[in-house]
Amino acid sequence: MSTITQLIHSIPVDPQTGAIAVPIYQTSTFVQEAPGVNKGYDYARTNNPTRETLEKIAAQLEAGATGIAFSSGLAAIDAILKLLQYGDEIVAVDDIYGGAFRLFNKVYAKFGIKVTYVDTSDVQAVFNAITPATKLIWLETPTNPTLKISDIKAIAKIAAASKCLFCVDNTFASPVLQQPLELGADIVVHSATKYLGGHSDLIAGLVVTKTAELGAEIKFYQNACGAILSPFDSFLLIRGIETLHLRIRQHCANAQAIAEYLEQHPLVDKVFYPGLTNHPGHEIAKQQSKGFGGIVSFTLKDDTEAAALAFVTGTQYFKLAESLGGVKSLLCHPASMTHKSIPDEKRRAVGVADSLVRLSVGLEEPADLLTDLDLAFHKIQRSTGSVLSL
Ligand SMILES: Cc1ncc(COP(=O)(O)O)c(C=O)c1O
Repeated sequence: MSTITQLIHSIPVDPQTGAIAVPIYQTSTFVQEAPGVNKGYDYARTNNPTRETLEKIAAQLEAGATGIAFSSGLAAIDAILKLLQYGDEIVAVDDIYGGAFRLFNKVYAKFGIKVTYVDTSDVQAVFNAITPATKLIWLETPTNPTLKISDIKAIAKIAAASKCLFCVDNTFASPVLQQPLELGADIVVHSATKYLGGHSDLIAGLVVTKTAELGAEIKFYQNACGAILSPFDSFLLIRGIETLHLRIRQHCANAQAIAEYLEQHPLVDKVFYPGLTNHPGHEIAKQQSKGFGGIVSFTLKDDTEAAALAFVTGTQYFKLAESLGGVKSLLCHPASMTHKSIPDEKRRAVGVADSLVRLSVGLEEPADLLTDLDLAFHKIQRSTGSVLSL
């Protein structure tokens, strides 16, 4: 049986009623026959049947032992960090999601956790950054917004040799394209708000662990701290996951077409998309992923904020918004939006130029998306007086 068929049919039919959709158990507590004698559920922070169904699907998707569903991607990341203790160190990807950076540096630094940021696309740099206090390696691949690729298998070997945990934030790739646990990671985390949900209608996080022991530890912290996913959002997320394979296939095809269009555009300077053969991580992406994803970033030859702002306000179908991974195409200007809190020099140093635009390519007809981008290029040419001809 194919993995897609297996996934769809692992979503159980309700044994009580035959309902083909997963029931939403909107309850806070469960009646017990005697103290401690129950049907497997006692209080809904600890466990809920709708959330439990989602967690089993998540574990299957990522080929792990245990899935745990959180109220947001950041809550999921937070629960993983609770595995650490005062004095422990993390080696993390330098082009990290801003919210994770804020959590590491503004919250966990207070509790004595130190983070060293390195260019993880350079495996030797990861190795060099490990100290006896390193307890966790934190990776995103591809990264946001420059789509940098790191070698998961090679870094997993470093983690194993250094006896530290290895966690991959797999939000950008999705488990359809990349399964980090199969490549040697111990933990996978998702902002399920993005591709897994897929419809821009919920905030959710998922953790999947390689071993049941690690899963039990993180589940303990979730129950102790309380950041669970609601039954309704669990239902929505299951519904999103049911079409994940299909959506990802189309996101990838649309993004590839757009990246190739941008690459030959006279107003574009650089295109960041691992599906382009000139992307520095193309070969590794090809080895460890089944596709290159739905995010494309690019910079303009006119590398000014004014040109980028004219572009991001000049499209019709690409809506100006933070977030990614939904049915509708989105675009954003990281320098003035997602990366605004990072000092300009540091931002530019990690490749986020003043004119960088990030596209979350949706599921519209690709020809319509190309026309939309064309119109925006004409607009910036008029508004910035660019001498480059189209
Ligand atoms: C790569 C990545 N990880 C984690 C998160 C945090 O997820 P959430 O917004 O669901 O808390 C995000 C959000 O944008 C993200 O892009």
